[in-house]
Formats: sequence, C-alpha cells, structure tokens
Amino acid sequence: MGRPRLLPHLHLLLLLLLCSLAISFYCYYYYYYHESLLSPSATTHFTFLPSSYPRKPIEIHKHQNQILQTLTKDNRGLFAQPPYHNWEIFRDDFNQMLKNFKIFVYPDAFLPSAPFANIFLPHPNPLDAKLGNYFSEHMFKISLLNSSLLTSNPHEAHLFFMPFSINALRNDPRVRSEPSIADFVAGYTAEIAQKFKFWNASKGADHFFVFCHSVGRDAASKHEDLHYNAIQVACSSTYFHRLYVSHKDIALPQVWPHLLNQTLISPNSRTRLIFFSGRAQNSRVRQELIATWQNDTSMDVFSGYPPFPVEEGFKRSRYCLHVKGYEVNTARISNALNYGCVPVIVSDHYDLPFANVLDWTKFAVIVSHGDVRFLKQILMSIPRKTYIGLYSNLLIVRKHFRWHATPRGYDAFHMTAYQLWLRRGIHSFSFV
Ligand SMILES: *[C@@H]1O[C@H](CO)[C@@H](O)[C@H](O)[C@H]1NC(C)=O
Ligand SMILES: *[C@@H]1O[C@H](CO)[C@@H](O)[C@H](O)[C@H]1NC(C)=O
Ligand SMILES: *[C@@H]1O[C@H](CO)[C@@H](O)[C@H](O)[C@H]1NC(C)=O
Ligand SMILES: *[C@@H]1O[C@H](CO)[C@@H](O)[C@H](O)[C@H]1NC(C)=O
Repeated sequence: MGRPRLLPHLHLLLLLLLCSLAISFYCYYYYYYHESLLSPSATTHFTFLPSSYPRKPIEIHKHQNQILQTLTKDNRGLFAQPPYHNWEIFRDDFNQMLKNFKIFVYPDAFLPSAPFANIFLPHPNPLDAKLGNYFSEHMFKISLLNSSLLTSNPHEAHLFFMPFSINALRNDPRVRSEPSIADFVAGYTAEIAQKFKFWNASKGADHFFVFCHSVGRDAASKHEDLHYNAIQVACSSTYFHRLYVSHKDIALPQVWPHLLNQTLISPNSRTRLIFFSGRAQNSRVRQELIATWQNDTSMDVFSGYPPFPVEEGFKRSRYCLHVKGYEVNTARISNALNYGCVPVIVSDHYDLPFANVLDWTKFAVIVSHGDVRFLKQILMSIPRKTYIGLYSNLLIVRKHFRWHATPRGYDAFHMTAYQLWLRRGIHSFSFV
C-alpha cells in the first residue's frame, strides 16, 4: 500500500526543492551584483570624463536598461564598470594587511661578505637597463627590505622569504645552468631547514620565493616540499606549466625598468587600432598573427622591431597586443598600461596578476589563441563608450603595476604582498 502513495509526496518534495533552489539562486544573484558593482573611489584626474561618470554604487540588474537608455539618450557616452571585483572588501582587507602582516627574511639578504652575497643581497642598481624583464624580481626584494611588513622577529612572522635571486643565479658563472640552479635552490632549502626551525614546522608551506626569470619555473624541481608546499611568486605564471599551481602560487607583474612617464595620450589622438611588435619565435600564435594582420592598414603589426620607436606604437594605438612567445609573460602588459594603451591579451592559461582583486575584463580584452583571425572583428565591435570605459579603468589600475624602492599605496609590492597575505594562516608546529 505504501508504494503508490510515495509518488505524490516525491513530486511535492521535488517542487519544494526546486522552489528553495530558485530562491537561493535569486538571493545569490541579487547579492553578487549588488556587491560587485560598488564603485571604487576613482581618484584619477581624467579631464575628458563627463561629469555624469558614475561614482556611486549602481544596481545594474534592476536599472541597467534604464541607465543605458538615459546615457545614450543624453549622449553622455560613458558607462564604466569598476575594475575591481569588490573594491570595498579589498580595501578593508588590504588595510588589515598593512597593519598586521609580518614577513621574516632569512639573514642571507643581509650578509655582504658571504660567498654568494651577489645571489642574496638586494640588487645594487635596480634601474640598470640590463635587468630588463627581470626588474620585478629585484624590485620585490628591495621593496620588501624597505617595507613596514619586514620583521626581524621570526616568531611574529606569518611568512618566510627565501631571498635567492634566479636572475642573479643565472648570471653567476658558478651556477648558470638550469639544473645547477635547481641544485643550488634545493641545497639552500635543505640548509635553512637544518639551521632554523621554521621550515620543518610547516614543511615549507609558509615560505616563499620570487622570480621573474623564466628559468625559475624549474628552480623548485629538485626539492619536493619546496615545489609542493612553498609559494612561488612568479612572472611566468601559467597554469599550463607543471610546477605552477595557480591557487598556491602567485602571479608577479612583469615590469620594464624606467617606466614612470606620466604623459598620456588621450583616446582621441590614438589613430591606430592595434600595436604589436615582437619576434615570431617558435610561437605559432605569433606567426599566425603576423601572417594574418601585418599588411592591414589600420594596424601596426610587426615581426621584429617597428620602423619607429617602440613607445610610439604604445602611444598612437588604441589597443596593444600581448601575444605569447616562448613564455606567457613579458613586460608588454605593464608597458601598455603605462602608456594608456588598452591591453589585448592573447596568452592562453596566463594566470593574470591580481586577478582575484582586479577584474581584467574591465580594462583589457582577453582573446583566445584560436580567435586571432577574428581579432579585427572583435576589436571593431567594441563600442566607443565601452572603449572609453576600458581606458578610464586602465588609468585607475596602472598604479598597481609600478614599483617603488620604498613601497607605497596600492603599488606592485603591496598588491603582491596582499596576495601573500591571502595565503597566510598555515598551521605549523610551534617552534620555541
Ligand atoms: C630603499 O632601498 C633602496 C635600494 O636598496 C635604498 O637605496 C633606499 O635607501 C631604501 N630606502 C629606505 C627608506 O630604506
Ligand atoms: C628538519 O628536518 C630535517 C629532515 O627531516 C632534519 O635533517 C633537520 O635536522 C631538521 N631541522 C631541525 C632544525 O630540526
Ligand atoms: C615622457 O614622454 C614625453 C612625451 O613623449 C617625452 O617628451 C619625455 O621625454 C618623457 N619623459 C621621460 C622621463 O621619459
Ligand atoms: C603582406 O605583404 C608582403 C610584402 O608585400 C607579402 O609578401 C605578403 O604575402 C603579404 N601578406 C598577406 C597576408 O597579404
């Protein structure tokens, strides 16, 4: 008798389940949109922004059509969404970090007469143009040593920094090759585990190291705990690579030295659609890009150097391409941000810097390798007001891609430190 009566109950239960699902979905939706659209306090002085530029929170899901209609009707032209996932939550937690975060640096960074001092000490001249693509690796250390986050008391530290430089190892005739670098790093890790109690207490999970040289990818390969547990802060942050784990490791922005020119070209003076110059190398996507677009009259796409200074390309184009070469990362993105050229990122599996804080889609365009042949259509279909939105957001976020010898505000050091802050709180044995 029980069986036939079960069925109507089942229907009822299913209905109930569906209803509660629908309600929770609505609540989540409402909350998400409400929260994520809080506008950051835009402090950028941006003269051609219309006075109607939204500075107050906007509830897009309710009033989107209405607002869009008003904007188009009044021809005010701009509807920009903030470049942060949630500015207020980020700002508050960031301030907590500035107050509370403590990092201990192993003493090798302070021993000028040690045999490998050149590997461990901060770089004597970070603005040396020869550093090029490895600038961020050195600036991180210089900023950390100058920062208020540094502590000389390991017992109050949240995280431990291993101060070797992959770039310096690469240039040292005693080491040089990639396998020797991995040996050196494994040996160093074993040494600090022997001399100090902190490594064993967490098996390295509260330890980190930084590199912007691509050979750093394999630096941890000869020490298991190092590559499974420690945090790598890496410019070559591609989750395509076996030793980079996107949720554990951290993407470091790659920045070229000497890049603090404040002069900005307005969108109206940017006459070219796209700028790209670079070696086709062994990158199929670059080859396809050059083969498809090098003769297009609206674009500046060059194999190798352009026939004008590279900065010109960044200044006269609306969009600047970042296309994967040997590596996913180059300084092109921060160059583009510096010159006010909206980055177009064609670099599959690139774990973009600060992507858990910054909403990259609000100041850059991300295109998959497979869509290079549609590049022009994709960019031409972006409405002008959306482009102005991307451009104005770019002006807000570019401060996050700048290094200072003594860190300040929301600069590249503090932004990277914030990523470390999010990874603190590892349980370790007490080390008395
Ligand atoms: C910061 O670091 C640089 C380079 O190491 C150094 O010249 C400068 O004096 C430091 N500034 C402070 C405030 O310690
Ligand atoms: C840490 O562990 C290693 C390997 O188990 C051991 O050789 C070393 O002595 C330990 N370090 C300390 C400080 O106890
Ligand atoms: C900044 O850019 C302007 C305009 O292109 C140029 O005249 C100036 O020399 C640059 N300044 C620096 C410090 O590079
Ligand atoms: C672009 O121009 C070069 C030189 O005129 C020519 O060799 C090449 O085939 C052209 N490429 C395309 C895709 O039209």
